Amino acid sequence: MEPATFVLFGATGDLAKRKIYPALFQLFVDQKLPSSFSLIGLGRRELSHETFQSNVEQSLITFSRSEVKDADVVKKFLRAFRYHVLDVDRKEDYTKLLRLVEEREEELNITPNRMFYLSVGPEFFETIATNIHESGLGSVDGWKRLVIEKPFGHDLESARQLNHTLNQAFDEPEIYRIDHYLGKPMVQRMGQLLHSALWEQADLRTRSITNIQISANETLGVEERAGYYDHAGAIRDMFQNHMLQLLMMLTIELPNRSSVDEVGKLKRKIMKSLMSLNKMDITQHVVRGQYGAGEIKGEQVVGYTDELGIAVDSQNDTFIAAKLRVDDPFWKDTPIYIRTGKRLKEKVTRIVIEYKSKGPLKDLLIVEIGPNEGIFFQRSQSDKERSDVEMPVRSQLSFMKESVKDAYETLIHDALLGDKTYFAHWDEVELSWEWVQPILYAYQDNLIPLHIYPAGSYGPHEADELLARDGFHWWFDFKNVSNNDSTKGDIHTYEYNT
Ligand SMILES: NC(=O)c1ccc[n+]([C@@H]2O[C@H](COP(=O)([O-])OP(=O)(O)OC[C@H]3O[C@@H](n4cnc5c(N)ncnc54)[C@H](OP(=O)(O)O)[C@@H]3O)[C@@H](O)[C@H]2O)c1
Repeated sequence: MEPATFVLFGATGDLAKRKIYPALFQLFVDQKLPSSFSLIGLGRRELSHETFQSNVEQSLITFSRSEVKDADVVKKFLRAFRYHVLDVDRKEDYTKLLRLVEEREEELNITPNRMFYLSVGPEFFETIATNIHESGLGSVDGWKRLVIEKPFGHDLESARQLNHTLNQAFDEPEIYRIDHYLGKPMVQRMGQLLHSALWEQADLRTRSITNIQISANETLGVEERAGYYDHAGAIRDMFQNHMLQLLMMLTIELPNRSSVDEVGKLKRKIMKSLMSLNKMDITQHVVRGQYGAGEIKGEQVVGYTDELGIAVDSQNDTFIAAKLRVDDPFWKDTPIYIRTGKRLKEKVTRIVIEYKSKGPLKDLLIVEIGPNEGIFFQRSQSDKERSDVEMPVRSQLSFMKESVKDAYETLIHDALLGDKTYFAHWDEVELSWEWVQPILYAYQDNLIPLHIYPAGSYGPHEADELLARDGFHWWFDFKNVSNNDSTKGDIHTYEYNT
């Protein structure tokens, strides 16, 4: 791997401590960092290099996946770390930063390959990119890269504006947009695993898929993110990015395997084929919800509008379910249902692919993305015709949980390598906003009712009706299962590790 300087904006922040330093340390332990590597951490607070290094060490002790026991290894890792005070608005700070970066490049005798990682609020992205450009930090003989994390804009117009400004300083191939769902090992290996599953269950390759369900259910409420979340809601926080990325990653893999080179092209093709929703469709195809008070794992929790920092009359969405259609020859007859929400009964990210069958037994391919991971094949009774026999046929593959890498490890490694396969391309981001924008307007004009659902449920019952109208139901919601049914449709039971 080429030598590089990692310029980290927001080096004193939470994301850096919890994710970025542990990921870098793991890469160091696994010998996946460049042999000549320099990191310059930035923030407004005054810190000496030594204090910075000791803060980083502390975060490794608290959050690292590998046990931090060998002092020499940690010391060697921290040797690359320097700290510099920088206020994003102060141009002179960038000039001083440039001097430090160059000094370190000379000291280490490394090519000026610079990765600018923006672990700061999105309101700073444009200022930082512009100042990198104007200060000369970005004029390098080697490569330069910009890493940012969603949100990429607040709506279609602001996303375009943001991208336009970024493009004054960085070309599209130099911009790495993190959608951490794309860094999840299960998402990255989904194609490969689905195809080995279909190799074993050969008949499925020729069978029609009746519907697809993509769920990302959280048990947490708004927590400390009220300021951000109350202006974003589930639609911007989850749906526009993570959920549509999951849809893209899944649909490009079926029916045929795609090559890595084709991933971007195919994802864009899918997004272009997503049938847009007109005003009438929106009210029929989108369910908006907000959690009320309820019970999560035996504990009483308050409703959204009673949360700290949330306006008592907030109309913000904490849940969205939608029915989507892809207008291409393979997918045109297959509805895709997506739902995501906070304060739901269980934490799970899962995709269920339901196959057409003649009898009551339904064949399902299940992609468990989190907290457990694996791909399973299961034959289940349809709800209406349940009997005592529910027959899990086979599970295909799964990972040992302990060996699962954190998404940031993979993504930072890929960015250092210059591999953009699992980063969001601007075209995908723009197409996602284009698809979502009519829903944002409908929310704004209150065309879609806001349904209050009890915390600890699976969301508003209107989300069940969305599927019931087409003759389906959400798989693996525990409410669909009678208490005395020993099989419960609990797919974890059938997991095995290879
Ligand atoms: N935390 C997470 O788990 C997480 C997960 C996904 C995405 N994100 C995203 O990552 C970004 C950072 O989140 P965070 O949780 O790390 O935030 P945070 O804890 O509030 O940290 C913000 C960082 O920005 C720096 N900063 C703030 N204002 C600055 C300014 N004017 N000039 C220079 N530096 C400034 C702060 O340093 P000083 O105070 O020293 O200036 C601090 O290092 C956000 O966009 C967030 O949405 C976070």
